[in-house]
Amino acid sequence: MSPFIETDGKHRKLEGWPFMFTLLTTIAILIGGTVEFLPLVLVESNVPRIETVLPYTPLELAGRDIYIREGCVGCHSQQVRPFRDEIERYGEYSKPGEHVYDHPFLWGSKRTGPDLHRVGGKYPDLWHVRHMEDPRSTSPQSLMPPYDWLLSDALDFEDIPSRLRALRKVGVPYSDADIQSAVSDARSQAAGIAMGVAGSGGPQGLEEKEIVALVAYLQRLGTDIN
Ligand code: HEC
Repeated sequence: MSPFIETDGKHRKLEGWPFMFTLLTTIAILIGGTVEFLPLVLVESNVPRIETVLPYTPLELAGRDIYIREGCVGCHSQQVRPFRDEIERYGEYSKPGEHVYDHPFLWGSKRTGPDLHRVGGKYPDLWHVRHMEDPRSTSPQSLMPPYDWLLSDALDFEDIPSRLRALRKVGVPYSDADIQSAVSDARSQAAGIAMGVAGSGGPQGLEEKEIVALVAYLQRLGTDIN
């Protein structure tokens, strides 16, 4: 018999009492389980809150849903990692507290294109409109596909309140008043963006189009902590 197999120690004896052994193991597992589980119920959130991080506006939220629908996350990440090269290229690294209202999160795992977490405010609105219509017009070497239909397809404003309501169910603090005024808030933010784009020599009449929502969302990204 191998010298490494214990045949007559205390533990061997304990294993010979199946009932007692089962009982003691169960107690040990219960204690371990409780210790692991308790923090989960007692600590409200393991993510440090950042006061300046607020939920998306109704229009930005509609834009975020377009971003999800179009699969932008398949080529773009939204997490600047805390490494020197990343910070120099993209800006301040991403903090967990910046993503508390992201359901689902869009950190992504593939970077065919650049990270977008700090893209908010990097370009004028008109740049985004042109880039979405034809990426080669702003970035000649780009292999990003065009999304020109966003400039002609109408944005469905009426379903925005239900998007807020759905997020409220998972803990995003939208108030009744936020939900009630969602459509008019979205329309006025859209009008502002469309006016700016038209005023800087871009296409006219985008205030009812999907592109304004996407631009609103992109311009918001990563700007809450500055
Ligand atoms: C096939 C991969 C691919 C997909 C899908 C894709 N992109 Fe891109 N994206 C790129 C590449 C590559 C670049 C860099 C060249 C350029 O500026 O076009 C880029 C650049 C960008 C930039 C400029 C970033 C910067 O810092 O200069 C933005 C904004 C952007 N994409 C948004 C989007 C949005 C929004 C979607 C979805 C509607 C999307 N992309 C879908 C590949 C992609």
